[in-house]
Amino acid sequence: MKFLILNGPNLNLLGRREPGIYGEGTYRALCTRLEEFAAAHGSAAVCVQSNSEGGIIDAIHAARSVYDAIILNPGAYTHYSYAILDALKAADVPCIEVHISNVHQREEFRRHSVTAPACVGQICGLGSYGYEAAMGYFLAQGGIPQCV
Ligand code: DQA
Repeated sequence: MKFLILNGPNLNLLGRREPGIYGEGTYRALCTRLEEFAAAHGSAAVCVQSNSEGGIIDAIHAARSVYDAIILNPGAYTHYSYAILDALKAADVPCIEVHISNVHQREEFRRHSVTAPACVGQICGLGSYGYEAAMGYFLAQGGIPQCV
């Protein structure tokens, strides 16, 4: 399978951004780990990060017919970007939304995702392991998301 690992605003700062919440590992280290995980499963993972809404939308548009699945952490856009929701609906590529932190243990505004309804599912609170968990789901499904 070919995975697009798409991270939104401020996730390039992993390692120095609120490490008590997001951990001490850097964004680069995360990408290397995810690329290795995919390769170990006969797959490929390509990491893309954008701090802008348009950058995320362009990456979702470009994923069509190129990737089998998207693993998306939209960052704060999760909570208000109807444009990313619409892009996911149009993408025709299954997506799992990942949050490193447990958004339900934090501020009220983080509890609601406007983008999750266009996703197969949402993973949060597992730290950066959530990205591997999402890939593991798609690998177990053979790339075809099913309701369980
Ligand atoms: C986040 C949670 C969001 O609320 C926050 O704005 C982020 C990161 C997470 O991975 O836990 O930027 O998506």
